[in-house]
Amino acid sequence: MRDQFLLDPDLTFLNHGSFGACPRPVFDELQRWQREMERNPVQFLGRRSAELLAQARARLAAYAGAHADDLAFVPNATTGVNIVARSLALRPGDEVLATDHEYGACETTFERLCAARGAHYRRVTVPLPFERERFAETLLAELRPQTRLIFCSHVTSTTALIFPLAELCARARERGVLTLVDGAHAPGHLDLDLQALGADFYTGNCHKWLCAPKGAGFLHVRPEHQALIEAPVISWGYAAEVAGHTGFDAYTGRTPLERRLLWQGTRDIAAWLSVPAAIDFQQRHDWPVVRARCHALAAEALHRVCTRFGLPPASTDDDYGQMVVLPVPHRDAEGLRARLFEDSRVEVPVTQHAGRTFVRLSVQGYNTPEDVERLLAAPALAA
Ligand SMILES: Cc1ncc(COP(=O)(O)O)c(C=O)c1O
Repeated sequence: MRDQFLLDPDLTFLNHGSFGACPRPVFDELQRWQREMERNPVQFLGRRSAELLAQARARLAAYAGAHADDLAFVPNATTGVNIVARSLALRPGDEVLATDHEYGACETTFERLCAARGAHYRRVTVPLPFERERFAETLLAELRPQTRLIFCSHVTSTTALIFPLAELCARARERGVLTLVDGAHAPGHLDLDLQALGADFYTGNCHKWLCAPKGAGFLHVRPEHQALIEAPVISWGYAAEVAGHTGFDAYTGRTPLERRLLWQGTRDIAAWLSVPAAIDFQQRHDWPVVRARCHALAAEALHRVCTRFGLPPASTDDDYGQMVVLPVPHRDAEGLRARLFEDSRVEVPVTQHAGRTFVRLSVQGYNTPEDVERLLAAPALAA
């Protein structure tokens, strides 16, 4: 499958997790939309975009177990987290509870907003090795009367763990606490059923594991919270709300989420319009089989590295998908990453969590057992 992707053939690319990689047919679709736009930008953006986006969104909704009206396209998960964090109107004394595995930029979002509003961002330690049975309880035991929100990844960035979230979301709701899930790595990586998962807010990326073009994120908001969502950019939809406008066009939108998020000024919508092509690509290539093959390769690499260094894994094999963290004894994470890339042309990130260092291995459909062998044989990996 490697020839389906545009990746440099001289590279051993084992970092799908950071920014994904887009297959040729999906990238062709992106460019087809961009060319279509340039034939008549006024027709395309001004008169057709709302309908085209609605079609793409409907396809994504069916794929992800959602109602289309509860979904909005955003450029990426960072934006999705920011929209929710800024919309919550945190008050002095409020608390946002999170795990200690959250993505740095999103943690910073909450830390800054909390500091500005006199609220608190509190990390709960989810220890390694990960124990899925204790996960929900670990967070729920930390709830206080002032906890407004639990913020939690679906698949974590530095540790590549899949957090089991349905129970957490349901029990948080019983306690009157909102949930925001950072699903940056989930679409295309896990079977997603957003309604069954039950988070109040869920943001995800299609440009990582679904292999859509970059800039294709989404935000899912349960209907009862849609009115509180504030856009990062105030635009025509707000004007239409004030004027009681009942029409539907690219500028105004129709539903509460569209009014806020559909039109954010002139921008390139081609990545979102290409999401159906990414879904088609994975369906054509029997993705459940691809995923299982990738997981098996990741698991084999993990077991070999653990044995080689005598270090324990971060979790059982059921707690990760196509991305896994390989424990290594190295202390200098950036030095190891740079040597793997410069000496061996292996593109792979090296992460650190709770004093431990990990090579975060991503195995995607284009990877072969030889790719993993090149990583494991790299001189830099020898302790
Ligand atoms: C858990 C997690 N959240 C959010 C992000 C940010 O994604 P984006 O840059 O597409 O906003 C990442 C990126 O790797 C991530 O791993």
